[in-house]
Amino acid sequence: PIFMLKIAVLVSGGGTNLQAIIDEIEKGTVTNTEIAAVISNNKNAYALERARQHNIPAVCVSPKDYGTREEFNKELLKKIQSFDVDLVVLAGCLVVIPKIMVEAYPNRIINIHPSLIPSFCGTGYYGLKVHEAALERGVKVTGATVHFVDDGTDTGPIILQKAVEIKQGDTPEILQQRVMKEAEWKIMPQAIDLIANGKIAVRDGKVVLVDKLEDC
Ligand code: GAR
Repeated sequence: PIFMLKIAVLVSGGGTNLQAIIDEIEKGTVTNTEIAAVISNNKNAYALERARQHNIPAVCVSPKDYGTREEFNKELLKKIQSFDVDLVVLAGCLVVIPKIMVEAYPNRIINIHPSLIPSFCGTGYYGLKVHEAALERGVKVTGATVHFVDDGTDTGPIILQKAVEIKQGDTPEILQQRVMKEAEWKIMPQAIDLIANGKIAVRDGKVVLVDKLEDC
C-alpha cells in the first residue's frame, strides 16, 4: 500500500480491545494499519504484555512519575509524538485526555465507550460503572460506541455504534463481557479500518461516509 495508517494504542488495563485490533490486523480484515506503539499509564497493565507478545513497542507513562498533572500530560504527548503516529486509539484508556493532546490531534483520536452514547457517558462513567448504571436504570438494550475525541468527555463525533441486549439476571460483569464480545471487539477494529482506508470524514461535527466520486 502507498499509505499505512500508523496508530498508537493507549491502554490502562486488560487490553482485550487492543487484542481485537491486533487480531483483525493479522487476519487482514483491518488493512493499511500498523500499530507503532502501545502506551499505558499503568505499568502492570496486561495490555503491555499483549503488545510485547506481538513485538509491538510497549511503554508506560505513569502520572506517579511526575510532580504535576500538567507535567504528565506533556510527557504523554511527547511520547506519542515520538512515534510519529497518524491516529491515537484509546482502547480502555482511563486517563482524561488533556486539551493539549486534543489540539495536537484534532479528529485524530478515537475512543471506545461501553454504552450507546449519549446514554451512560461523561464524567464518572467508565468501566463497570457504565454497566452498573445501565442495569440500575433498567434499560433493555445497551451497547458500545466508537467516537472521535473532542475537548468534552464522550462528546465527540460518533463513528460506529452497536446495540447489545440486556438479559434477565445480568450482573455488571456479565453485561460487560457481552458488550465487549458482541460490540466493542467488532466496532473498534472496524472504525480503524474505515479511517485507514479514507472512508469517513467529519463534517459539521458529524461523521459522514466519504463518497470517492465527490473528489473528482
Ligand atoms: C472496555 O469495556 C472499554 O469500553 C472501557 O474499558 C474497558 C477496557 O477493557 N472503556 C471505558 O470505560 C472508557 N470510558 P480492555 O482493557 O480489555 O480493552
